[in-house]
Amino acid sequence: MSQHTVLEQVDTEWWKEAVVYQIYPRSFNDSDGDGIGDIPGITEKVGYLDKLGVDVVWLCPIYDSPNADNGYDIRNYRAIMDEFGAMADWETLLTELHARDMRLIMDLVINHTSKEHVWFQQSRQRDGKYEDYYYWRDGTPDTPPNNWNSIFGGPAWTYDEEREQWYLHLFDENQPDLKWRNSDVREDIKEMITWWLEKGIDGFRMDAINFISKTKGLPDGDPDRTLVGLEHYSHGPHIHTYLQEVYDDTLADYDVMTVGEMGETSIDQTAEYLVEGGSGLDMVFQFNHLTVDEGPDGQWTLDGWDEWDLSEFKAIMTRCQNELAGEWWDAVFLGNHDLPRILSRFGDDESYHRESAKLIATFLLTLRGTPYIYQGDEIGMTNAEFESLDEIDDPMTTGIVEMLLAEGRIESYDEAADLVNYRSRDHSRTPMQWSSEANAGFTDSEPWLKLNRNCTDINVASALDDTNSIWQHYKELIDLRHAEDVLVYGEYDLLLTDNEQIYAYRRTLSDETILIVLNWSDRHTTFDCPSINTSSADVLISNYESTSSDPKRHKFQPYEATVYRL
Ligand code: GLC
Repeated sequence: MSQHTVLEQVDTEWWKEAVVYQIYPRSFNDSDGDGIGDIPGITEKVGYLDKLGVDVVWLCPIYDSPNADNGYDIRNYRAIMDEFGAMADWETLLTELHARDMRLIMDLVINHTSKEHVWFQQSRQRDGKYEDYYYWRDGTPDTPPNNWNSIFGGPAWTYDEEREQWYLHLFDENQPDLKWRNSDVREDIKEMITWWLEKGIDGFRMDAINFISKTKGLPDGDPDRTLVGLEHYSHGPHIHTYLQEVYDDTLADYDVMTVGEMGETSIDQTAEYLVEGGSGLDMVFQFNHLTVDEGPDGQWTLDGWDEWDLSEFKAIMTRCQNELAGEWWDAVFLGNHDLPRILSRFGDDESYHRESAKLIATFLLTLRGTPYIYQGDEIGMTNAEFESLDEIDDPMTTGIVEMLLAEGRIESYDEAADLVNYRSRDHSRTPMQWSSEANAGFTDSEPWLKLNRNCTDINVASALDDTNSIWQHYKELIDLRHAEDVLVYGEYDLLLTDNEQIYAYRRTLSDETILIVLNWSDRHTTFDCPSINTSSADVLISNYESTSSDPKRHKFQPYEATVYRL
């Protein structure tokens, strides 16, 4: 059977075949010299994205915002942040992307708004229907209404002097949670969603979407959990109904893609959102595979982080491949604007910078599921070094450090410095490194966040000049994925399950088989896999020129990643 015939039998979708590129606008490209990336800056780089070969751009929030959480605190859903430009700039960007057959998905932040949103302003004045748009509770200013804590550290409640009540915020105090139980809230949100869909966008990444429904009465959470209250606000009682309603009343009428961001979500819980006729989500960002280097109390554990185990990682990824991507679909990613740089986390950003970055690229682009590339990963950007808390902008990092100090778990920043230098969200937010010129070609003035020191060596200009660059490898892998339906729609099966150095898998579609062998280590090794015949294998792509066509007769070099057609 030809691949073409086979494809008639699988559920093909444009978003399954797409490679997504995530842009953090503040850090991408500054066109007007104020040190802050902006929308015209992105438009200048549309040709760059086209050349790389990506199909979809996911734009982190560009809406009007006072920037307590870099745009994830929205003041006006229908306006553009001044620093980023005007609506006309956004329209130009959309037109330019569409002109090159690329699509645009927007960040949809609907669990909360900014405190400066007019809904909150009216709500705190108990103004008409807005009175009940947020979670307000009575109480004395010294005792929060329940024991939930904020994901950014400290209590999830702030006392509002004006309304003389507490309001709930799962994130920063400037991000009050919307009360989805109130159907007026849902109507307003749906209207806004349709407004954006009518502007011709191609989908949404839905922020913190598993948190929109809370247990009625907001009861105390188990005090022993790291995130106290989680069991009452994650996957709450009406979550599927709300998402279904949003889908039926808005998304169903448009050919768009949706990806829901769901922290603290198991693989089984994820599956519940994907089942046929599920909640209108095409795929989910769940983070199970990213727990492998966490300490016992999650990502901000002071000790016990850093070591990760390939066998554990393979086991989790394989469950995601089989139970999510295999059955429905999955979002394949290792990094984003909330996470450390993938190369520093999963590769060796010193001794095997180029090799391990290419290995990670090979991994991301040969799995089943839609791959997401975060800006800068295509040139091997690495974690930065933060010497003091003053160099950090991210409210999550500062909030957590303040909490550790307040709880007496650390006495000074120095005791948390290693953790911050491993974990801070600002690692992925340092400006994009375009060239070795002043300010890495990102801006003509002082950048809003310190550049990574290595920008003179690691930058787009030098990557484009080098035929063997990480960038080039990403491009070739993207081209390969576009050319090979088996890499998109083929089944996945893991080989050498217990091997602690090699992550190898096969992708199979009808009589097409592609074998991916990744030596995820800095030591040589061999591929001893009696169950498959590799004698007539051909190399499709490798990060080492000196590879050989039969993987079983080859000594894999550190971080070697080779893809074969069998
Ligand atoms: C999501 C975003 C993150 C933001 C948070 C609150 O996790 O990815 O950047 O801080 O939601 O909106």
